[in-house]
Amino acid sequence: MKKKISTALTARLERLARRAAANSYSPYSRFAVGAAVLASSGKIYSGTNVENASYGLCNCAERSAVFTAASAGERKITCVVVYTPTQAVTPPCGACRQVINEFGPHARVISICDSKDRIETTLDALLPGAFGPENLA
Ligand code: THU
Repeated sequence: MKKKISTALTARLERLARRAAANSYSPYSRFAVGAAVLASSGKIYSGTNVENASYGLCNCAERSAVFTAASAGERKITCVVVYTPTQAVTPPCGACRQVINEFGPHARVISICDSKDRIETTLDALLPGAFGPENLA
């Protein structure tokens, strides 16, 4: 049974995702992204996209946030918020969906932006039939 995430907690995640985008290092795409993830401990970890002159090494905001959470010892993620300072929302890219799946196969995924546009979905819906840790058992 999925635990409900309160409106206040969602608002906090949204604020932190917005704040994280301010640190975006995206001189090549000029597309800033901020992410915040809620771990089962109750702690929130944020991250931003970090690009590289070797373009293929660019890291998305969601992966920055998930890797920060995992580096702090977290192993379960219950919610991910993605913010872009745009008029339309940005869903997590395929690579990020796979990385979120590792720690949050049923996580809530919320995309927000600078308009009223908003997507609220789940990782299951974004990545059906995912390959995950259980496939290696
Ligand atoms: N980006 C993210 O940070 N998250 C996504 O889910 C989509 C794309 C970043 C990667 C790159 O720095 C820029 O946005 C343009 O693709």
